[in-house]
Amino acid sequence: MKTIPAPAAIEPISVPSGTPCLELRDITVRYGRGCDHCRSGEMRAQRCTHCGSVYGCRDVSLDVWPGEVLGIVGESGSGKSTVLAVSNLDIQPTSGSVKLLGDDVSSAEGKQRRRLRALALGIVYQSAQANLLMDVTAGGNVAERMLGAGWRRYDAVRSRALALHTDMELPEDRFDVPVGMFSGGMRQRVQLAKALATSPPVLLLDEPTSGLDVSVQARILDLIRRIHAEFQLAIVVVSHDLAVIRMLADRLLVMRRGLVVEHGLTDQVLEDPQHPYTQLLVSAQL
Ligand SMILES: Nc1ncnc2c1ncn2[C@@H]1O[C@H](COP(=O)(O)OP(=O)(O)OP(=O)(O)O)[C@@H](O)[C@H]1O
Ligand SMILES: [Mg+2]
Repeated sequence: MKTIPAPAAIEPISVPSGTPCLELRDITVRYGRGCDHCRSGEMRAQRCTHCGSVYGCRDVSLDVWPGEVLGIVGESGSGKSTVLAVSNLDIQPTSGSVKLLGDDVSSAEGKQRRRLRALALGIVYQSAQANLLMDVTAGGNVAERMLGAGWRRYDAVRSRALALHTDMELPEDRFDVPVGMFSGGMRQRVQLAKALATSPPVLLLDEPTSGLDVSVQARILDLIRRIHAEFQLAIVVVSHDLAVIRMLADRLLVMRRGLVVEHGLTDQVLEDPQHPYTQLLVSAQL
């Protein structure tokens, strides 16, 4: 295992023991103003027929402990990315609470929010374009995150970014090449390097392999497994593909139309699914 220079220039964030790294409680995200009808809680449809508001997710709770991988599976539009966006403090929930490393961060804003996102959380977005600057080099994209987290010494930033780049199995001669010239699989590796650049205890992965060729998918999944084993992070991985969840996750949540319809240990849920939607999902992917 090669040594990656540690982020010594910044105060590392401490992970308290005996508490989940990430805790969501009764998270609801509503797009739109809402009305008495849909706010009452009796309406379980994702779109309110009275006011047209859409519920990205509703009453979602989850815990992720250090070293654990939680999977979220569900059809398109079921709310998976919304849950990750709340977890990454990209959006504030309409109601419910978010705890990160034991602290309530539901209403974190400004400097506190930026600090948590820089030091406590790493994310691979569903779309690499949303996360990487396409006309900036692979090294530059990773360095940008470190500079945002308070690193200042150019040589230290460059050497850590390069070590991560090669650790993500990217060719060294691509370090100074703009990511716009990279393949989909290589962009995912750059996203992973960027996410890990500040050694965050929580890693969020939104469809990390979708849109990739099967052989590229398999190699990215192997890489994620290695990252998990080496860095012992708490990981939330979102996918519409049960095979990905089966391979990575210890526990899973099944989402449908913004709601969690089933949760439990991955093996148990996939071997003996209880909810008709999970049963359909499992039988469709056998
Ligand atoms: N900014 C927004 N404004 C209005 N509705 C939104 C917004 N973002 C998401 N939604 C809606 O919220 C619901 C959940 O979306 P989300 O992106 O979380 O689903 P998903 O499970 O990640 O889907 P996919 O598998 O296609 O990525 C969808 O109905 C979506 O249309
Ligand atoms: Mg999504």
